[in-house]
Amino acid sequence: MKEVLAFTLLVLTGKAYSILPKSYEARFISFDSTGPEVVDFSKIRFLGRDHRANGTVEIMKDLDNTFSLSAESFIDSNGDGEYKQLPFSIPLEPFCKALNSYWSYFDASFKYGENTDFPVHTRPCPVPKGIYYFKDVLIKTDGWPTIMPRGYLKGVTNLFRNGENVGSLEIVAHITDIAK
Ligand SMILES: *[C@@H]1O[C@H](CO)[C@@H](O)[C@H](O)[C@H]1NC(C)=O
Repeated sequence: MKEVLAFTLLVLTGKAYSILPKSYEARFISFDSTGPEVVDFSKIRFLGRDHRANGTVEIMKDLDNTFSLSAESFIDSNGDGEYKQLPFSIPLEPFCKALNSYWSYFDASFKYGENTDFPVHTRPCPVPKGIYYFKDVLIKTDGWPTIMPRGYLKGVTNLFRNGENVGSLEIVAHITDIAK
C-alpha cells in the first residue's frame, strides 16, 4: 500500500513548511482503485479502530518513465459528500520524477523493512513489478503543510501510459484536530 497510498496522498503537496507544531492528524477512511492490470490494490484492508492499512499491492509491470501520473485533492468539510477542490495537486509528470518530487510527504509513513518491503528507501526507476507488503501503516503527517482544512480529504491519482489512463487510486483520509 505504500506505493499505493503514496500515489494518492501525493496530493498533499502544499509548499509551505513551518516550524509551528501541527494541530491535526489524519487516518485512512477508504480507498477505491481502477486499473488492476497495472497496479492491483485490492488486497489492502484497513484494520482496527485506527484504520491501519494492511495487505499487499501487486505491481504487474515495471513502472518506468513511460508511465506518468497526476493527482488532485478535494475536501468535504461537513461529511455530507460535497467535495471542493484544494490547491494541492501534482501536474502530469513522468512516473519516477513524480515519485521523487513528492516522496517527502509519505516518507514518515512508510519505512522499508518495518512496515513495507516496497523500496521506499531507494525508490528505484523503474519500480520493479512484484508483490509488496504493507503492514499496519498509519498516516504520519510529518512534512505535510502546517495549515490543513479539517474534514474528509480525498486524493485522486491517475496513472497514464502513452497518454492513456491505465489506472486510478482514490484515497479518503479524515483530517481532525489532534485529540487532547
Ligand atoms: C496484514 O498484512 C500482512 C502482509 O501482507 C499479512 O501477512 C497479514 O496476514 C495481514 N493481517 C491481517 C490481519 O489481515
